[in-house]
Amino acid sequence: MTMTPHTLPAPADAGRAPGEAREIDEAIAFNGVGMTYSTNGGRPRQVLDGVDLRLARGEFTALVGRSGSGKTTLLNMVAGLVDPTSGSVTVMGRRPRDARPHLGFMLARDALLPWRSALRNVEYGLELRGVPKAERRSVALHWLDAVHLRHAERLWPWQLSQGMRQRVALARTWALDPDILVMDEPFAALDMNTRQSVQQRFVDLWQSEEHRTVLFVTHDLGEAIALADRVVVIGGGRVVEDLKVDIERPRDLPLITLNRRYEEIYQHLRGRIG
Ligand SMILES: Nc1ncnc2c1ncn2[C@@H]1O[C@H](COP(=O)(O)OP(=O)(O)OP(=O)(O)O)[C@@H](O)[C@H]1O
Ligand SMILES: [Mg+2]
Repeated sequence: MTMTPHTLPAPADAGRAPGEAREIDEAIAFNGVGMTYSTNGGRPRQVLDGVDLRLARGEFTALVGRSGSGKTTLLNMVAGLVDPTSGSVTVMGRRPRDARPHLGFMLARDALLPWRSALRNVEYGLELRGVPKAERRSVALHWLDAVHLRHAERLWPWQLSQGMRQRVALARTWALDPDILVMDEPFAALDMNTRQSVQQRFVDLWQSEEHRTVLFVTHDLGEAIALADRVVVIGGGRVVEDLKVDIERPRDLPLITLNRRYEEIYQHLRGRIG
């Protein structure tokens, strides 16, 4: 069964046309995806059982669900690191392994290379791609600037706060110009204030250009609603909820919790996560 995102009944004063202009091409498709892990000696463990999910290009989707519900497993499939035991995953219409050049990854504690400065960490992926030095330097400086870290270009990772390190990781991911951003709790390790400013920087960047497709896993339901176009709840191995976040952009993150729509969506989804 394929679920299309639904919308909670709109409040009478919503007055907004549904669906913003965006490309309808498919960026990621999970087709009846099942996953059973076999463990050493133990009984096989079924984690996913028929996940159907289609992400349009340019769409920002947040995946939420209890710990162990299989969110990271789904991301690993998109990365081509694991294959589903049933069903299939396609990325930009291809096998995930063949689509890797389109992907940018970011994790909760993104490892920066300790022997490289902030700037040279941002350059790293470009270096692997063989981008000439002058060009990669200017691209890296541009993205360091975009995350407000131009002043820190020469600092080593151990001289940066966790929030600064995650911003360097964000710049490094963006510098590769990926069509699809795959993020596994990228801001989870940050304290609340830092998290809010890094989140804001992130949505501002995302909104400032033609939208990249984002698949974003988070434990924080509030973060999911604040950032995403669509929140998908994974539970019992399946998609149990797929909800469009009809809160207009640009969003002012510190204030979004005051929005009545935010509260309605929050309460609804909280009930679905259980
Ligand atoms: N390589 C593996 N071998 C065996 N079991 C695994 C493997 N990877 C994940 N699992 C199991 O699959 C289940 C789902 O794991 P997964 O990491 O996808 O969950 P998650 O939703 O990301 O959880 P969390 O929110 O805690 O990060 C867990 O029970 C986990 O122990
Ligand atoms: Mg996980």
